[in-house]
This record gives sequence, C-alpha cells and structure tokens, in this order.
Amino acid sequence: MKKKFKVKKASGKLGVLIPGISGAVSTTFIAGILAKRKGLGELFGSLSQMGTLRLGKRTDKKSPLIKDILSLADINDIEFFGWDVYGDNCYKSCKKSGVLDINQIESIKDELEKIVPQKAVFSKKFAANLKGKNIKKEKNLFKLAKELIDEIQRFKKEKNIKRLVMVWCGSTEIFLKIENVHKSVTAFEKGLKNNDKKISPSMIYAYAAIKCGAAYANGAPNLSADIPALISLSLKSKVPICGKDFKTGQTLMKTILAPGLKSRLLGLNGWFSTNILGNRDGEVLDNPKNFKTKEESKLSVLDHIFQSDLYPDLYGDFYHKVRINYYPPRGDEKEAWDNIDIFGWLNYPMQIKVNFLCRDSILAAPIVLDLIIFMDLALRSNMSGIQEWMSFYFKSPMHAKNLYPEHDLFIQGLKLKNTLRVLAGEKTLDHTGLDYYYD
Ligand SMILES: NC(=O)c1ccc[n+]([C@@H]2O[C@H](COP(=O)([O-])OP(=O)(O)OC[C@H]3O[C@@H](n4cnc5c(N)ncnc54)[C@H](O)[C@@H]3O)[C@@H](O)[C@H]2O)c1
Repeated sequence: MKKKFKVKKASGKLGVLIPGISGAVSTTFIAGILAKRKGLGELFGSLSQMGTLRLGKRTDKKSPLIKDILSLADINDIEFFGWDVYGDNCYKSCKKSGVLDINQIESIKDELEKIVPQKAVFSKKFAANLKGKNIKKEKNLFKLAKELIDEIQRFKKEKNIKRLVMVWCGSTEIFLKIENVHKSVTAFEKGLKNNDKKISPSMIYAYAAIKCGAAYANGAPNLSADIPALISLSLKSKVPICGKDFKTGQTLMKTILAPGLKSRLLGLNGWFSTNILGNRDGEVLDNPKNFKTKEESKLSVLDHIFQSDLYPDLYGDFYHKVRINYYPPRGDEKEAWDNIDIFGWLNYPMQIKVNFLCRDSILAAPIVLDLIIFMDLALRSNMSGIQEWMSFYFKSPMHAKNLYPEHDLFIQGLKLKNTLRVLAGEKTLDHTGLDYYYD
C-alpha cells in the first residue's frame, strides 16, 4: 500500500445526522450519549470509548486506549439533527420505544425534548407499515434532495459544525436490485429529476449527505449508498461511506460461532434461526417485501464464512433458514433461537442450541457511536469511498467489486484494529509470535 494517511486533529463540533431519529436505536443511542455527559451511564460495548490497542510486542506491555493514541471526536462535541416520519420529540419517542427505564429517560428529559425531527423524505411504497404523517410535501425527488441539503447546511451554519456524519437508522426499505438508474451519478441525478421509482428515500438521504461532505453509514440492509452511482459520488466528493445492516443479536452470535466451527473443521448439516420481536422494526419487517431485504442480509453471512467451495465435504450442502416473527408483547426485548446441526470425526452428528434473550437497541447503540467516531476519523484522514474496515459492525459489509465480503467477526476485528494502527502510524500485528522463540 502506497498511501500514507495523515490524520487531521478532531477540533470543533461534530454534526450527527440521523434519518429515523424517532426510532428505538436512535433514541437509545442519543439517550446514552446524553446520560454519559451527565455522568449517569456508561457506554459499554463501544470500542471507540473503551477499546485498547496493543502496540509492539507482548513483552512491551503497551496497550493504550484507542482514544489516547488517535485524535477522536469527543462525545461532548456532538450535535444531533435528524428526520422522521413520526414528529414526536426524542423524549416522547424514547419513552414510546420502551427500551430504557423511565427514570433514566426522565433524568435527561430537557435535553431529549430539544431534539425534534424534521419532516421526512418518505414514501409508503418503501415501508408500507409506517403510519406517521411528518412527511415533506414536495413530490419531486431532486427537489427533495435539495431540501435535505439546505437543512443540513443550515444546521451546520447555525450550530457552527465543523464535520458531519450521517447514520441511516431508518426502517428497512423494501428489497431493490441495482438497476440502470443506480449505475452512474448522471443516471441517478436524471432519475431524481424524473421521479424514478427505483430511487428509495434512503438513497436520497445518502446523496444529500455525500453532497454536503458528510460521511455516510447505513444501519439497515436496504441498498442506500451501496450503488455504483453513490460509491462513485463518494469518491469524487472525498467522503467515506459504509454499511449495511448493524450486526447485533442473532447474526452477531452467528459470526462468532461459525468461524469457530469452521476453524476446527466441524461440518454443518443445518442452521435454523428464528426470532420473535415486537418493536416498530418488527412491524415493518412483518411486510414480506421488507423482510426480503433483511433475509438476504442475514442469509449471506454463513455462505461466506464456511467457504463451501473450499470445503465441499463439510459445508457443501447445509440447510440455512432465518425467520423473524412480529410478536408485539416482546417489544424491543427480542428472543432468538438457533438450532445448529453439526458433525465431526467419522460423521458423528451433534447439536448446538442457542437461546439469546437480547435487547436489540442496547446492542445497536454502541455500534452507532463507533460508526460516527470512526467515520469522522476516516473523513479527517482523507479516506473516501467504501470503508471495508467498518465490516466489523455490519451484517452485509460493503466491499470492493472484485472482493468477497469478510464476515468472520475475528478477521473483521483484526482488520479494524490494524487499520487504527496504520492511522496511528504504528506497526500492524500478525500474531505469529515466532520472534519470541527464534529471534
Ligand atoms: N436494533 C437492531 O439491533 C438493529 C440491527 C440491525 C439493523 N437494524 C436496523 O436499524 C433500523 C432502525 O431500527 P429500529 O429498531 O430503531 O427501528 P424503528 O422502527 O424503531 O425506527 C426506525 C425509524 O425510522 C423512521 N423512518 C422510516 N423511514 C424513514 C424515512 N424515509 N425518513 C425518516 N425516517 C424514517 C421510522 O418512522 C422509525 O421511527 C432498522 O432499519 C433496522 O432494521 C436494527
């Protein structure tokens, strides 16, 4: 690699732009930041806040906090701005989403109440189960993009913002394939002007973000910025982009377990995964067209980790099923079951059962924070286009055209930490450890 990265110092305010700001993930994330600022909570699960980076040899005993060796944005410098189909302020929507304890929400009520969503760029065609009315009136997609750009620029000026990161925390949109309108910036802009039906709201937000020089991360599985037009615009505009679909809950477990089974060459006959959840995300996914987007994202993980082309006897013919069932009484407290049929020595079968009683938004909030902090770091380091080192956080990581996506959580973690070492001007680690014995 020839490029040397020079990291500009993180000074001044960081504007955080969130489409879907009234949702469970967004409000849990924002409430966490506000609580931490008041000393009322800890940001557990966040690598940017708590993670360390080993530098040099094990005998050097040097493992500083990541934030002590790299200039990272301070959470006190974050200003929030967002859009939602539901117009309630963040205090009301945080209560409605039912994730956090009411006393905790009350302790940051004043700050939450001040965050009010702008009207959304939205069409029911992309998420039919949403009933909110806080929607922009304009019908032309190009003019809608212009409205978003104007809002972002006004926010930037009013709050004296130095840098911007957008994270899509909006609902999962219906499944779309890449069409001609997505293939170049010219075709995309023409499509916006002609109200092309294949351009989804999340693509319009991503376009507006990139146009404003904001880094863009997509927390849902819909295409959004993962189309040639927006990848090429991000390179031209020198902004980093990443996605898709926060890796929480069941898929997190899958990408922890599957690499372990594969590294010990245990075979797989089948992996059946089912979930119940009762939040608004579950309600949107109850529509088969939206579920299809999520299903594709969840299914791709195992194929890539097990590499059946290299190990046909072990992984050439496994059955993989993923189900999500909307079950309102559970709210955000999802329950996931996995039944894994494996085989070992002389083909003897074994079973693994996983029952994960998780809290979706509690797992997603630290991911949102890390994406913001690391995408801002990428922006200041002059990194642009797809940021594959962010794969660690996603179910369907965006990747270069000529590569397969890396799904193994441990390789993703190494990739992330080694990239941070490169940005800090430190040596990467290969973990062979041979020098301790033969040098
Ligand atoms: N919670 C998790 O663990 C997790 C994991 C992976 C991915 N995700 C994805 O993250 C997203 C957010 O999850 P959530 O649980 O907060 O869902 P949620 O339904 O609570 O929130 C989504 C919000 O987006 C809003 N929205 C939808 N379309 C919009 C648009 N065009 N413009 C502005 N706002 C819009 C909705 O009104 C809603 O308030 C979903 O797409 C979900 O699939 C969540």
